[in-house]
Amino acid sequence: MLLKDNFGRSIDYIRISVTDRCNLRCVYCMPDTIKSGCYQDGKINHDSILTYEEIMRFVEAASALGIKKIRLTGGEPLVRNSMHELIRSIKKMPGIEELTLTTNGQRLAETAALLSQSGLDRVNISLDSLRADRYSEITKGGSFEKVMAGISAAEAAGLLPIKLNMVPMAGINDDEIEEFILFGIKTGCQIRFIELMPTVVNEHLFTNGFIGSDEIKRRIEKQFQLTPLKLRKYGPARYFTAASRETQAAGIIGIISAVTCRFCPQCNRLRLTADGRLRPCLYSNIEVGLFDALRNNATKEEIQNLIIQAVELKPERHHISDGDEKKSGAPHMMSGVGG
Ligand code: 5AD
Ligand code: SF4
Repeated sequence: MLLKDNFGRSIDYIRISVTDRCNLRCVYCMPDTIKSGCYQDGKINHDSILTYEEIMRFVEAASALGIKKIRLTGGEPLVRNSMHELIRSIKKMPGIEELTLTTNGQRLAETAALLSQSGLDRVNISLDSLRADRYSEITKGGSFEKVMAGISAAEAAGLLPIKLNMVPMAGINDDEIEEFILFGIKTGCQIRFIELMPTVVNEHLFTNGFIGSDEIKRRIEKQFQLTPLKLRKYGPARYFTAASRETQAAGIIGIISAVTCRFCPQCNRLRLTADGRLRPCLYSNIEVGLFDALRNNATKEEIQNLIIQAVELKPERHHISDGDEKKSGAPHMMSGVGG
């Protein structure tokens, strides 16, 4: 079975946010004004967060509809207890070919081996600075040493290739773009430069700090020779080998144009929020509520009908760069919808 939306796109990828909670407060995600938790008017009530059993009921229904790839996100997924148990169950589900996780790395050093043994294929680690003091400033208290230890542990556990997500922001960390590429060359990590995405709570930062992917690429090309790589068919990322003009040493980088480039025609994904709402587009408030069905033991067919409904509601494209705030449908915070 293959899920197709009304615009001919095949949907085979779901991002599952397992919690909206996080142990960091990154500037673009949870600005100072947000005290704790993070979804819309406050954090999701504990009772409203899907249990692992409920998530598995969803995964079972989705995989039978042709979903092949799952990414676990948050908030920070590793603040939830026993993530490895969820990973083990998902990995056993027939039809699931790839299982990945996005983490801030704070708890990766102690969990990487178990996550890998439980069937996790890869990790993306968020890292916005290579300077310990600046990292701590951007994340409001995150430990740079812990992320470095997490990267080493992920490598030792075979969670490869490791991808590091870096969001360049003007005047905050955009002077480190080249250093990141050199770090990637040294460690073998792929560096993904992600355009800062607007949310309801980061408006000020977005207005002052946004750097478009063309500009990111232009800056990189001053020092590195970029050769395009055809690594994947879908999604907003363009991959390149980046070779130093000085030493010829090379690494793989990605440039992710979520805002300026319209990758919508190739979009293959849905998002499940931690409280069981299925969102067909990051930048649209359209959602289908699955919580009641999952909590009240709905049949697999009933859950599948709701998933099909979300696919049918998937908008043709986002409107972020149309300049129309109302139409843009920017999420309140990324942590509530899983980035
Ligand atoms: N813009 C760009 N990236 C974001 N992330 C979270 N919020 C934003 C935003 N507003 C990224 C983090 C992390 C992943 C979970 O999503 O950097 O890598
Ligand atoms: Fe936490 Fe990720 Fe948001 Fe940073 S971006 S505060 S690590 S959820």
